[in-house]
Amino acid sequence: MAGGFGVSTGGGDFEAKITPLVIISCIMAASGGLMFGYDIGISGGVTSMPDFLKKFFPVVYQKQQSPGLDSNYCKYDNQGLQLFTSSLYLAALMATFVASYSTKMLGRKMTMLIAGIFFCVGTVFNAAAHNLAMLIIGRIVLGCGVGFANQAIPLFLSEVAPTRIRGALNILFQLNITIGILVANLINYGTSKLTDGTGWRISLGLAGVPAFMLTVGSLIVVDTPNSLIQRGQLEAGKAVLKRIRGIDNVDPEYLEIVEASRVAGEVKNPFRNLLKRRNQPSLIIGIMMQVFQQFTGINAIMFYAPVLFQTLGFKSDASLYSAVITGLVNVLSTVVSIVIVDKAGRRMLLLEAGVQMFLSQMGVAVVMGLKVKDTTNTLGHGLGILVVILICSFVASFAWSWGPLGWLIPSETFALEARSAGQSIAVFTNMLFTFIIAQAFLSMLCKMKSGIFFFFSAWVLVMTLFTVFLIPETKNVPIEEMNDRVWKKHWFWKRFMDEWDMEAPKGHA
Ligand code: BGC
Repeated sequence: MAGGFGVSTGGGDFEAKITPLVIISCIMAASGGLMFGYDIGISGGVTSMPDFLKKFFPVVYQKQQSPGLDSNYCKYDNQGLQLFTSSLYLAALMATFVASYSTKMLGRKMTMLIAGIFFCVGTVFNAAAHNLAMLIIGRIVLGCGVGFANQAIPLFLSEVAPTRIRGALNILFQLNITIGILVANLINYGTSKLTDGTGWRISLGLAGVPAFMLTVGSLIVVDTPNSLIQRGQLEAGKAVLKRIRGIDNVDPEYLEIVEASRVAGEVKNPFRNLLKRRNQPSLIIGIMMQVFQQFTGINAIMFYAPVLFQTLGFKSDASLYSAVITGLVNVLSTVVSIVIVDKAGRRMLLLEAGVQMFLSQMGVAVVMGLKVKDTTNTLGHGLGILVVILICSFVASFAWSWGPLGWLIPSETFALEARSAGQSIAVFTNMLFTFIIAQAFLSMLCKMKSGIFFFFSAWVLVMTLFTVFLIPETKNVPIEEMNDRVWKKHWFWKRFMDEWDMEAPKGHA
């Protein structure tokens, strides 16, 4: 039985070739990740450029000019500066609700196009900014783009991918995020050397390149069969399915999608439907994946790496350099995930990374606690390198686990009837907690000092226990068969599925 419905598919994976069309579509769609990554990476470097601070945040600039006034841990603690970084996430979390309707009613492809347009407009505002208001408006428009893109792209990828490489193709999104962060770091490194005060403008303006790529890419890609069928375009959906799978007989998969979309069609209120008992396991996992992903503390490093490295006593140049190193580690380790996620599985990656992240963060906390005091910093060369290595080890383990899987698992575990709404709750939660960390980190660093890394490692412990008991393995399970093959078999979540047969709309098995 497929997905708990009355269509027999014989179980297992569906026949599918890995066609050029599927690969090209995924590469284009995933380019939206570049934009998200670029936005994440660019703010840290820009906010440590003196010209930028002088123009928009003169108070922080003053503080920086008079060293010794403030604790090592508090130099950059300024709400306005944090708002510059975090306004994007606030906008994104609000946009995601509209994006949920757009992915459902207009499709995944159209939603990606809308995201691309937001990105182009936001970039223009940012690059042309001559006051703080323009700067923040630009970040807000970019945030709307992130809300739409992060809603549509993971769904797109998980739906068009053949089951056996779904994890790898979905992680292309995260790979692009990491490339975007790295490129942003490199560009910041270059533009920070410009002495004519245009560095930050160029950094912000170059976001136009990935923005344009997503806009053009989304015009070219096909929409997903699942989305076309859900919107009543059965023939078009079947035709696309044949093209992306590269085979003529797609009937088993087609019938399964038709059935899933028939159930989806009976849903009146998508958000209330999410609360139905049978959708609660995927909802809880979808939300917790995001909370945990952010409470690894990754963005404390990603946004503020240059700032953090300066706190550690590296000079301005060396700190951007270290940020580039963490950026590179982030990209390469994401490739590791792409290679093994469909073989080793999701759980193995999460569990290994839990241990590695925990140890690395404890290490950073101890070294910093001993050596970096409020006004003295005795972190010599050797220990400085040790901290960079520990941070790289943390970033690497994040990059093959919670980074990509935070996006993959929610996009593949919701039933079609709950997928758009579920993904939007996942994106909302991710953005909310990204916002909280972005807004709070510099203040937390100022108050908790090195203890902040103990705080994050405690969270890593909790999420690893959560993984042990509650995150099911979803590798190699066709996307519309999660109910039968994952949830109904899980030691804990199966009790939520009892009602499925009783409550399922008429005509279901
Ligand atoms: C997270 C971002 C993070 C990035 C780092 C993404 O999966 O959602 O918040 O900055 O990974 O690579």
